[in-house]
Amino acid sequence: MRILLLGKNGQVGWELQRALAPLGELIALDKAGEEGPLGFLCGDLSDLDGLVRTVRLVAPDVIVNAAAYTAVDKAESEQEQARRINAEAPGVLAREAKTLGAWLVHYSTDYVFDGSGHLPWTETDPVAPLNVYGATKLEGEQLILQSACKYLIFRTSWVYAMRGVNFAKTMLHLARERTALSVINDQTGAPTGADLLADVTAHVVRSVVARPGVSRELSGIYHLAPKGEVTWWGYASFVFAQTRAAGESLMVETVSPIPTTAYPTPARRPHNSRLNTGKLESVFALRMPEWQDGVCRMLTELR
Ligand SMILES: NC(=O)c1ccc[n+]([C@@H]2O[C@H](COP(=O)([O-])OP(=O)(O)OC[C@H]3O[C@@H](n4cnc5c(N)ncnc54)[C@H](OP(=O)(O)O)[C@@H]3O)[C@@H](O)[C@H]2O)c1
Repeated sequence: MRILLLGKNGQVGWELQRALAPLGELIALDKAGEEGPLGFLCGDLSDLDGLVRTVRLVAPDVIVNAAAYTAVDKAESEQEQARRINAEAPGVLAREAKTLGAWLVHYSTDYVFDGSGHLPWTETDPVAPLNVYGATKLEGEQLILQSACKYLIFRTSWVYAMRGVNFAKTMLHLARERTALSVINDQTGAPTGADLLADVTAHVVRSVVARPGVSRELSGIYHLAPKGEVTWWGYASFVFAQTRAAGESLMVETVSPIPTTAYPTPARRPHNSRLNTGKLESVFALRMPEWQDGVCRMLTELR
């Protein structure tokens, strides 16, 4: 099996380099692309012609797109660029996948929903994004569906990774320097490790490729997040409690829960980011771990 991975240095892309490696020949690109035996391979999702040339040169069995425009607030003022990367580029990849008979694996977000209610969203719930990022991600999904290629779209939420900046690391940094912090307490979701996303992707890719007879029926959108739910305030409080339990004394004394309205941002964010993962678990016989498991692992590795 030949796999073309785009966005290899993002949170999820980095973990995918590890998780996909045992499945076959992995050609992994970042935005800069690379010169290889097949010629120059373009990994820049804003270069649509370059992407087409690259997919045709590589002729992969599976395309995994981990690249995205993920700056949620900046997207409000850079709509065109966000749309090109999050919508047009996946659309191009999907059309090329269809021509090749390849699978396209792509990641989307709970931000396709409006965040109303308190129930975990299912794959068939109505979409209504609140911000430009969510709208461009939704358009990407729709273009993939329209292409009629074989696809797996994993919608996830609140992604963190050991590598790079993340909410838990930022909170810990602040908790070592300040005595009081305020954290949003009316947005609820599940922090999702990039390692979990990558490992589940590898399991599912292996599963669909190994079952060519039924694999087209497995094509679809799947919600992928750990079990459980928490607010950003609850997440920060958990990180501080675990860190103290491991013997570190933090400077922070007060962690105040605040509403979203007390922390205005250019992009609106959904209150309800809960994702129902029942479809993924039943179709692929998987069991999602609790969100705390991955966060504890990250905190242990940080020490
Ligand atoms: N992060 C979250 O909380 C979250 C939540 C729900 C869904 N998702 C989805 O999960 C997927 C993976 O996200 P992530 O957290 O791994 O994001 P990330 O860490 O921001 O990685 C995105 C990657 O895309 C690359 N990229 C940006 N513009 C590009 C371009 N024009 N051409 C090629 N690569 C480009 C970035 O490279 P540079 O850094 O060099 O620009 C970066 O390596 C995305 O589809 C995202 O929408 C993320």
